[in-house]
Formats: sequence, structure tokens, C-alpha cells
Amino acid sequence: MASLSLRNVVKRYGHGPKANQVIHGVNAEIADGEFIVIVGPSGCGKSTLLRMVAGLEEISGGEIAIGSRVVNQLEPAERDIAMVFQNYALYPHMSVFDNMAYGLKIAKRPRDEIRARVDKAAKILELSHLLERKPRELSGGQRQRVAMGRAIVRQPQVFLFDEPLSNLDAKLRAQTRIEIQKLHRSLSITSLFVTHDQVEAMTLAQRMIVMNAGHMEQFGTPEEVYHTPASTFVASFIGSPPMNLLQHAPGVAPGQILGIRPEHLDVGPDGWDVAVDTVELLGAERLVYARLGDEPLIVRIEEGAPAPRSGERLRVRPRPDRLHAFDAASGKRIAAPAQP
Ligand SMILES: Nc1ncnc2c1ncn2[C@@H]1O[C@H](COP(=O)(O)OP(=O)(O)O)[C@@H](O)[C@H]1O
Ligand SMILES: [Mg+2]
Repeated sequence: MASLSLRNVVKRYGHGPKANQVIHGVNAEIADGEFIVIVGPSGCGKSTLLRMVAGLEEISGGEIAIGSRVVNQLEPAERDIAMVFQNYALYPHMSVFDNMAYGLKIAKRPRDEIRARVDKAAKILELSHLLERKPRELSGGQRQRVAMGRAIVRQPQVFLFDEPLSNLDAKLRAQTRIEIQKLHRSLSITSLFVTHDQVEAMTLAQRMIVMNAGHMEQFGTPEEVYHTPASTFVASFIGSPPMNLLQHAPGVAPGQILGIRPEHLDVGPDGWDVAVDTVELLGAERLVYARLGDEPLIVRIEEGAPAPRSGERLRVRPRPDRLHAFDAASGKRIAAPAQP
């Protein structure tokens, strides 16, 4: 096992004036055994970053170290990493056992060792009873576990996951998330997990890297990212529905943006006077889509509390200790929020 260091990592595709820079100096010190999620919208550079760690993409600038070893110049096979992709093609004509054993056979490990490693991984992944089956005889979730098994048997220093759950349906995705957490608890292998799904990121990460257009916007625990987003980008990307961002609410200082999450607005006899557009029923809660002046505002109302109807007006009060302030020009967080 090993720590992982990204030091001012840069990626450019192409050369000279036509070069397209897609990663802009990412710095992250990841401790041995940490589970890190890289999250951001499609095209922000998540896969590129992961592929540079894996050695599948050249590094244009900066340094990547696994443990104390700088790996910039090392071939993928020399980096002691294992990667699980979204499209984890299994060999269709091979059994589950042979699929999991394949990498070890290529590496010419002794038969007894291969048997032992595959059996151990199969046990962890609850695949022991399926080892003789072919991939076509498995469910989607089981196939995904075989793909993870293939990575586990390598006993790598670092696990890399690139959106491995994207092809699963919602229920299976939630189950597999729990399995990945269990797996990490039992193996404690340093892991980098890429996803565009902020729920996946929040539930899996010990710490998360939020990426936006090749920049690292924030690196912190899910709590830090949720409670003290470093920018309006993070504030609106993490959390569903996103944080309300208001420039014209009462009391907002010029040049600032006020942030308040939908769950931190209380309906009451006084406060902001908002116009209700629509109300969405989501089981345990309702989302009220409203307008404060000309700015959209989402209010979350708990089950049981009276909900307004569209066309009505509503008074809402932001909880003072839950306000966020951002600089309107840069989008960056301002330490002391404005008090409306
Ligand atoms: N081989 C390539 N050549 C040129 N540009 C690329 C290449 N691969 C990715 N890109 C560009 O790099 C950016 C980041 O891509 P990627 O890392 O795949 O994003 P993500 O995984 O976050 O969706 C995108 O703008 C993409 O078009
Ligand atoms: Mg990708």
C-alpha cells in the first residue's frame, strides 16, 4: 500500500500554440489507504487525471508519486496500480475464475498462488459460488464484481476506478456502492474513484476532489465540501437540488453572491416574500420552485408541514448560520457571509 502525490500536474493535448490544456496544475496529497473521489461534470478532466496516474496518458507537467517513487516515466505495468473501467469487458469465453486469474497467469505467478488469490477475492466479493460460470450467465452486478475481482487479485498499491457504476441501474448502483465501501474497509487500499454523480461522491468519499474545467475547485471531506463550498461552482454542483445563489436578495452586498441551501430556508410569518411557481412532491419532502424578485429560489419543505400551491406567495427566512457568501466576479467563497 502507498500514499499518492499529485504535484502541480498539468495535461496538454497537442503541442505549441494549438495545444489544448485540459488539466491546470492539480495538487493533492493522498494518504496511504484513503478513498478519494474525483467528481465533476463530463469533460472536466477526471478520466485524464486518472489515466495519468495509471500511466495511460503522458504527464505534460508536474509530478505524480506513488509512495516515495516518482512514476512520471514508468510504464503502467511498473506502477503497481489496478484500474476498473466503466466498460469492463470480461472475456466471454472464459469462466469467472479464469477472468479473475488472467492477469496473474500473464504475470506467470505460480498456480497455487493464483488459486489462493482468486479464492480470497471471490470470497470478499461473494463470487465463490460463481467461479465456474461464464460472464453471460451472470447479472450485470455480478459481472461488475468480477471486474473488481480482477483488480483485487493484483493486490495493487493503488486502485483506480473510472465511473465503474455508470452502467448499472439505480438500485444496483446503490448496492454496489455499499460493496465498494465494504471492500475498502477490508482491504484499505489507496483508491481514486471517478464519478460525475455527486451523490456517489458524497456517499463514497473519505475526501473528494471537485473538478471544474481542468481546475481543482476544492479538496475536502464531504462535510467540508457541503458545508463550506469553496466556490459557487462547488455550491451548485454538490447537493441536490443545488444551493440557491442570489445576487439581488435583501441585504446582499454589491459584488457579492449570497448562497443558501433549499433545506436551510424556513417558511414562516415573515421573511422574504416569494412567488411560488411549482411544487414537486418527492415522498418525504416537497420542493417549492419559487421566485424572489426575478431570481429563482428553491425551498425544501419537510413531509407533514403545509405546502403552498403554485401561484401563491410564501414567506421564507434563511437561517443566519447557514448563509454563504461568494465574490460575484471570481465566484470564490468569502470567509464572513453577509447578513441580510
Ligand atoms: N486524446 C485526447 N485528445 C484531445 N483531447 C482530449 C483527449 N482526451 C480527452 N480530451 C479532452 O480533455 C478534456 C477532458 O476529458 P476527460 O478527462 O475525458 O473528461 P471527463 O472524464 O471528466 O469526462 C475534454 O475536453 C476532452 O475533450
Ligand atoms: Mg471520463
